[in-house]
Amino acid sequence: MRTIDWIDDAVVLIDQTLLPSELVHLRLSTVDELVDAIKRLAVRGAPALGVAGAMGVALAAASSSDPAVVRDLVHRLATARPTAVNLARGVDRAAAHLPSFPAVLAEALRVRDEEIHSSTEMARRGADLVTSLCGSSARLLTHCNTGALATVVGGTALAVAFELHRRGTLASVTASETRPLLQGARLTTWELARAGIPHRLSVDSAGPFLMARGEIDAVILGADRICANGDVVNKVGSYAHALGARAAGIPFICVAPESTVDLSTPTGADVEIEDRGPAEVVGTTAPPATPAVNPAFDVTPASLVTAIVTDTRIWYPTPPRPAHHAADSPRTA
Ligand code: MRU
Repeated sequence: MRTIDWIDDAVVLIDQTLLPSELVHLRLSTVDELVDAIKRLAVRGAPALGVAGAMGVALAAASSSDPAVVRDLVHRLATARPTAVNLARGVDRAAAHLPSFPAVLAEALRVRDEEIHSSTEMARRGADLVTSLCGSSARLLTHCNTGALATVVGGTALAVAFELHRRGTLASVTASETRPLLQGARLTTWELARAGIPHRLSVDSAGPFLMARGEIDAVILGADRICANGDVVNKVGSYAHALGARAAGIPFICVAPESTVDLSTPTGADVEIEDRGPAEVVGTTAPPATPAVNPAFDVTPASLVTAIVTDTRIWYPTPPRPAHHAADSPRTA
């Protein structure tokens, strides 16, 4: 199952806002429709956004022969969401082939195929690393959603869990729910259940305590942008898990394709963090006029990151710390 693809002159993607209750595919044949899908997170996750952006340029190229019109559509695609570097990158790659529609589409399909290939590479390399750090019965905690839904097939961090499960060296995954849009609760649990992986759901704030209680061997998650100094920008809540992992003495592993590594951004402080407005936080719980802050992402400083696994390498942004011995902690889950 591909999360996103190009079929019969349109972008076809799973509407992630409807999961887990309904599995519905959207067929988007205009840039307006695709930008709307990106903004409301019908398609989401850094690699999937890169593919969506590239395919969107193909929609733009097909829709007009007026360069000014196409330029405006391309700009709207590239800026639909600001934080994941993959979106603007995918758009730029495809737009470099304008005005030729066949050349733009060919590049968009290359972006798609590269992400499919990257997922396999990250899974293998990440599984080797987790086993070397945690032994042959790893209990992982993950945040947000990094499975096929966030890529095209497979995933990033979750692809590592799938690979460990295939090898018989995964004990369990704790999915942190990921307030406020619940990508962990709605999407990660859905993917883990479909894969037959033992898992449980926790509220975000339980993560560091579960680590302190010795129930987690490693935190493994994705990224929306990895900066030149190794700072990891990812779904809000990642930083708290990194602090918990450091306090508990367990590895904090980021898994992301090279397409998410942005050497032109020096540090996390240089990244625009999307704020999605108060409504998602206030919801129906707080008094309606309550002011709220809603950063969709946070920055985990490189100093808290044990390793960054990409499709081509393992990057240790800070000098390795003494190895954690899983046997030091009581195994209660
Ligand atoms: O707001 P989202 O759902 O697009 O955020 C997605 C994440 O933060 C993912 O963890 C990240 O893109 C890595 S996906 C493989």
